[in-house]
Amino acid sequence: MGGNLLRLRDLSLAEIEAILDQAQDFCDGEKYQKLAGKIVCNLFFEPSTRTLYSFQVAQERLGLKVISFNPGSSSLQKDESFYDTVKTFDSFGADLLVIRHSQNEYYNELVDKVSTPIINGGDGTGQHPTQSLLDLLTIRQEFGHLDGLSVAIIGDIAHSRVAHTNFEIMKRFGMQVYTSGPPEYMEEGMNFIPFEQALIRCDIIMALRIQHERHQMKFNMSLEEYHQTYGLNAQNVDLMRKSAIIMHPAPVNRNVEIADELVESSRSRIFKQMQNGVFVRMAVIRYALGGD
Ligand code: NCD
Repeated sequence: MGGNLLRLRDLSLAEIEAILDQAQDFCDGEKYQKLAGKIVCNLFFEPSTRTLYSFQVAQERLGLKVISFNPGSSSLQKDESFYDTVKTFDSFGADLLVIRHSQNEYYNELVDKVSTPIINGGDGTGQHPTQSLLDLLTIRQEFGHLDGLSVAIIGDIAHSRVAHTNFEIMKRFGMQVYTSGPPEYMEEGMNFIPFEQALIRCDIIMALRIQHERHQMKFNMSLEEYHQTYGLNAQNVDLMRKSAIIMHPAPVNRNVEIADELVESSRSRIFKQMQNGVFVRMAVIRYALGGD
């Protein structure tokens, strides 16, 4: 057990369940200080609020010493490569690296060259393992199980690492996973469902932000039009089952994916997801560092 955490598909379901159980124990108040004093470097080459800072809170709760790298004031500005930047922190003798980068599978060029364990904080449109883990924890807390539940992921599926990771792992856990949204952002083989059907049928509606920064061509729908067609609002939310919940990885563009009034409504678990992000990241760090 332990080492890199790059993709959830490298872990068995039993290993993932053990991480979720540990995260739940942290949520229930367990303290763990055996990793105190270890040095972690957070190397985020893409903007982040939740992932970066919830990692940092998790690291502080575990007593780690935290170094957060700022690409804008680093030697990246002198054309140093991504690879040499990561190798630098590896050579410092850091105990753990948490990396986010816009390149899909950025870690392939690192795995045989970097000896410090790496946790993937998101790679391009590829994977976002800790986001999926916190989503699974939130769903498990809500329904008590994962198997048999149905989820619809709504929006810019093609450019979303959250959609890609969740589609795969939720299916592995026996959930029915659907996707819906603008036709140009749907993907083959990802179980399309019309938006209204998704609202009627699913236990979980997971809305996504339109990932404008990843688009080759300008998105040709106005934000108002998007909200009218694929947004959750005070009317269509009534189509949802009584027990169904709303999730979103955030950042939320209020009144685009979700009407302002629903973001903190009784159905929404959006801030719960953020809270669980800290516990999941504590558990993942313990896993990566092989803490007993
Ligand atoms: C997501 C991401 O960066 O992939 N946010 C997150 O980590 N909570 C989704 C997004 O940026 O829309």
